[in-house]
Amino acid sequence: MLQFYGFFSFEFELLVMGLIELRLACFVYFRVVLAPLTRQRSYNNVPQPHAILYYSQRTTKGGLLIAEATGVSDTAQGYPDTPGIWTKEQVEAWKPIVDAVHAKGGTFFCQIWHVGRVSNQDYQPNGQAPISSTDKPLTPQIRANGVDIAQFTRPRRLRTDEIPQIVNDFRLAARNAIEAGFDGIELHGAHGYLIDQFMKDQVNDRTDQYGGSLENRCRFALEIVEAVSNEIGADRVGIRLSPFANYMESGDSNPEALGLYMAESLNKYGILYCHMVDPRMKTVGEKSECPHSLLLMRKAFKGTFLVAGGYDREDGNKAIAEGRADLVVYGRFFLANPDLPRRFEFNAPLNKYNRETFYVSDPVVGYTDYPFLDTSSYVTKKKH
Ligand SMILES: Cc1cc2nc3c(=O)[nH]c(=O)nc-3n(C[C@H](O)[C@H](O)[C@H](O)COP(=O)(O)O)c2cc1C
Repeated sequence: MLQFYGFFSFEFELLVMGLIELRLACFVYFRVVLAPLTRQRSYNNVPQPHAILYYSQRTTKGGLLIAEATGVSDTAQGYPDTPGIWTKEQVEAWKPIVDAVHAKGGTFFCQIWHVGRVSNQDYQPNGQAPISSTDKPLTPQIRANGVDIAQFTRPRRLRTDEIPQIVNDFRLAARNAIEAGFDGIELHGAHGYLIDQFMKDQVNDRTDQYGGSLENRCRFALEIVEAVSNEIGADRVGIRLSPFANYMESGDSNPEALGLYMAESLNKYGILYCHMVDPRMKTVGEKSECPHSLLLMRKAFKGTFLVAGGYDREDGNKAIAEGRADLVVYGRFFLANPDLPRRFEFNAPLNKYNRETFYVSDPVVGYTDYPFLDTSSYVTKKKH
């Protein structure tokens, strides 16, 4: 189980620092996970050397990092400069980035994705239509910068006989991730992208064995889980799901039933972890209180359970203390605080994130220039 990595290093830390009183305060120290965060700085879909510094800044010995969403094939892209892992060049480009995380004692999983209909013919080979479970188009949406409008090309519904090829793309991408040195992969089954487009009944309008019933809608996701598990070993596989989110017009009429069905079905494959996005995150960036919870899914899933979405230090500690999760995944706070676990340890103030630089292509600004905490004063204070 993933959470055990931390304890040995954690005890070691305590001995070195002689700060036994931190034991309780740091309960989640190594349960703090870097969320997958698209940063759009992988020019022409190739990971760049500046990512070495970015990821190594965010590495703590014993900690888990999940890399940004990484395309499985040339039809998988829908945004500028997101990385891929389907060519030799991309695999080679990931290697020094993964090595840097390992050199600092981190565990690194690659999130592999296919955007499906969240794309446009400009991102597709030969200007073809994006593929999906459906041919229903997305309505144009305001981009993250709040100004530009993203236009989506009407997707082409995958024929039943084409689906094994897409499953195979995920299998090959998982193999490539291991070749690049990653410790495992996370399937991006959240946020309205291809896997979610099959699972959610507001998107999937198929009449074959991949549409209709819950079992049919989850078939594509589970075939991918099985294929990647057979390829690289189930103990190297995680999946991210957001049954409650309706990002990219991907709502479901019964998200509890969907989340529970997936949690139970995943047990058959014995994968390492299930990573669920909190129901309060209806969209990727906005938190709104709601009566739902992930508790049933947490109880149903037998492996390590990760939660994400709107957590802060206190909230994350509470989720662990109450047994609602094994690990807590942090997105925006980790983006802006490369030393987030350290800051949580000292209960130190956090840098504020700047949305305007989330997706700019600059190799430094808003990427590797968020300052680290000066810990000397904190250690001194604790000693006196
Ligand atoms: C800049 C940015 C990029 C993101 N990219 C991804 C991504 O590549 N894959 C993914 O599953 N989620 C992505 N998300 C969602 C985050 O992983 C996370 O679930 C979300 O930010 C909520 O967590 P937080 O409240 O801790 O930030 C992204 C979010 C942000 C802000």
